[in-house]
Amino acid sequence: MLNSVKIGICGLGTVGSGAVNVLNRNADEINARAGCQIVITQVGARRDNPACELGDISVSRDIFEVADNPDIDILVELIGGTTVAKDLVFRAIENGKHVVTANKALIAEFGNEIFEAAKEKGVTVAFEAAVAGGIPIIKAIREGLSANRIEWLAGIINGTGNFILTQMRDKGRDFADVLKEAQALGYAEADPTFDVEGIDAAHKLVILASLAFGIPLQFEKVFTEGISKVDPQDVTYAQQLGYRIKHLGIARRSTYSDNGGIELRVHPTLIPAKQLIANVDGVMNAVLVKGDAVGPTLYYGAGAGAEPTASSVIADIVDLARTLTADPEHRVPHLGFQPGQLNHIEILPIDEVETAYYLRITALDVPGVLAKITQILSDADISVEAVIQKEPEADSDHVPLILITDRAIEKHLDEAVEKIQALDATAGDVVRIRVESLS
Ligand code: HSE
Repeated sequence: MLNSVKIGICGLGTVGSGAVNVLNRNADEINARAGCQIVITQVGARRDNPACELGDISVSRDIFEVADNPDIDILVELIGGTTVAKDLVFRAIENGKHVVTANKALIAEFGNEIFEAAKEKGVTVAFEAAVAGGIPIIKAIREGLSANRIEWLAGIINGTGNFILTQMRDKGRDFADVLKEAQALGYAEADPTFDVEGIDAAHKLVILASLAFGIPLQFEKVFTEGISKVDPQDVTYAQQLGYRIKHLGIARRSTYSDNGGIELRVHPTLIPAKQLIANVDGVMNAVLVKGDAVGPTLYYGAGAGAEPTASSVIADIVDLARTLTADPEHRVPHLGFQPGQLNHIEILPIDEVETAYYLRITALDVPGVLAKITQILSDADISVEAVIQKEPEADSDHVPLILITDRAIEKHLDEAVEKIQALDATAGDVVRIRVESLS
């Protein structure tokens, strides 16, 4: 048995300082679980962080010194981004080190090459902290659900976005104001448009989809729509219809496409208010995974923040410490499926996706408009599940009509919406939000 495993931590921001603190505080338990002592041998950081105490750990301002340090077994990359962090990870692999990273952008965009390089060198790149912060969702899908054919998964996988939507709904707070608070709490990305426009969630979804379906990482194929255009009135109407609006990442085997393609999409979604996941609020994340054998399973926890993310980083370090003596060919494969046995299933374009819809149509308050709209939908073979018509606002001859449709293929809905928008009796664009029952 190894006596100690030496780690080098690069990046001492929110997650890096959280990892140092948890490793120090829980050293005895962590070491007992790992079966050896985990020793922080070196830290690479541009500046110190008063949020953690480094004691006599060697600190280098040049992170590449950590990757080149022959004493280090595991390099922990907590810098983020896809430039310096990418070079660092490749350097560490080249030097035969295992890597632990919380970097979702790096894995989503460059994971295929990283895993290939790691395989050649017989090392592992572990990335539990890259998705849903402290929730062990990678391990759950890759190992816990390995008996299942995964049918779909849907997750609230951006804490900042969920925090903003929750505060807007419950407290009527202003979008920009809540975003500032999320940044101050260390939840938001360096560039918060990644949170708000769904890019961060898309990174995480791609990783989950690869594990679930055994497909290569394909970030460029995700359909991504953020929360910045969610109108407070739609939040209210959704509530009146028994739904909540959540920003979801959805990966699903299509039952519509002949060739069994995969839907990969991130967008605001109406979900029934009674679903557990509809009640996941604030910075919390949750992922629903439906396997054919197990049925639906739900994983919930803090999706961002220093110590929750550190919890996942350290779990990976413990896993690696346990397997350091194992034959590289018999370690858990990066994406759960053995290299060379990945599936090559098409990712569907968004117009081939099948979902239900919430539509808000601004219509003239005259007889027969609703009939014309439902006729257009019916001609497209789209049935209507619910309708509400609101009173016209003062001084307006227009009324909002809200419809929930049955599931339809997006291109058929697009055609119907175009016809509805062309009616003389409607004004402006139809607001459309996808709806999922998640059952
Ligand atoms: N900005 C991310 C979030 C951090 O808010 O979820 C965790 O990945």
